[in-house]
Amino acid sequence: MLLKKIELVNFRNYEQLSLSFAPGFNFITGDNAQGKSNLLESIVYLSTGKSYRGAHDVHLLRWQGDFFLIRGKIESNGRDFLLEVSYSPEKGKVLKINGVEKKKGREVWGLLKTVWFSPEDLNLVKGSPEGRREFLNQLLTQVSPLYAKSLQEYNKLVGQKNNLLKRKEDGFAGEKTSLLEVYNLQLVQIGSLILKSRLDCLEKLIPLARRFYRELSGGEILSARYHSTVEFATSSLEEIKRGFSKGLVEKKHEEEKKGYALVGPHRDELEIFVNGKSLRLFGSQGQQRTCVLALKLAAMEYFQLTGGEFPVLVLDEVTSELDESRREYLLRTIRGKSQVFVAGVDLSFLESFPWEKGEVSFFTVEDGKVKEAR
Ligand SMILES: Nc1ncnc2c1ncn2[C@@H]1O[C@H](COP(=O)(O)OP(=O)(O)O)[C@@H](O)[C@H]1O
Ligand SMILES: [Mg+2]
Repeated sequence: MLLKKIELVNFRNYEQLSLSFAPGFNFITGDNAQGKSNLLESIVYLSTGKSYRGAHDVHLLRWQGDFFLIRGKIESNGRDFLLEVSYSPEKGKVLKINGVEKKKGREVWGLLKTVWFSPEDLNLVKGSPEGRREFLNQLLTQVSPLYAKSLQEYNKLVGQKNNLLKRKEDGFAGEKTSLLEVYNLQLVQIGSLILKSRLDCLEKLIPLARRFYRELSGGEILSARYHSTVEFATSSLEEIKRGFSKGLVEKKHEEEKKGYALVGPHRDELEIFVNGKSLRLFGSQGQQRTCVLALKLAAMEYFQLTGGEFPVLVLDEVTSELDESRREYLLRTIRGKSQVFVAGVDLSFLESFPWEKGEVSFFTVEDGKVKEAR
């Protein structure tokens, strides 16, 4: 997977930008608040349709602009194509592949595969379960169109069910009950697929993360447990469906009392341990950072395992927070696999690395303008 070129119009503080990238490492330096993260954000947006900093589309629009555009020339499995997203408050997002408009986001998101690591991600281990579910969702959405579709439908159903649960019965108790049953039947079908995909993914992902964590930490053992709100004895799809249905029956009254859906993958938790102790509760900052890095590297390998191609790796500021040995490890691990984008205020430590010709490009950013520095 290669992002060969990017063009931006009115995206954040970029009025107009056109840049070609190296197939290996692309280092982006500059003072604070010049546009380094904005550039990386545009790359991830082209991949997922979302800001990895959680910004709304309208905030990505340059203050003086009435639309923004991101266009990328991408090479995937030896074939080039142009991917284009534009946005305006009136029209919303307009998506194009090779100039041809696509109606569904699903046809576009995930074509450019990315794994990113930004300071916000340090919350992944420490923060609420939602962040860890989101990590799995983002990964699986990019890897599997079926997962992307299921997740979209599932979230919509959960929203509809929650609305229904919140409604006062006022003489439509019978109707409410039968409508809930309809929702629940669909939730079981789709939710079980989501759950099963996550379990299958974790089976591959966690051993990979464990290896990276062990090597990064000098011997500590990472493990993880997926706590599901659905109970099942074996992780076959049939068994999950059975457990899901059973759970919904058991929690019926509690769901009605609380007014929201309690059972299903939208309420699950991934717990991570180091040497058997919960990382969220007991991990040091260094251990948490190492864990996020190990998970991201594992995600990178997971893409390759499932799709045969390494994703584009986007690293915002994180290299400067790693000590020298971890930094070396990181560079060695990703070198020759993924195309990488690294942003940082000071990346001078990279200049002395024995790069091969054509492997790296250095860019400097100042006030929304990028120069290639050689
Ligand atoms: N929608 C926008 N329109 C114009 N400028 C913006 C917009 N959003 C953010 N900026 C500007 O972008 C700069 C921050 O860019 P960023 O890429 O986060 O910086 P850094 O180089 O430190 O990573 C700030 O100067 C901010 O004012
Ligand atoms: Mg930044």
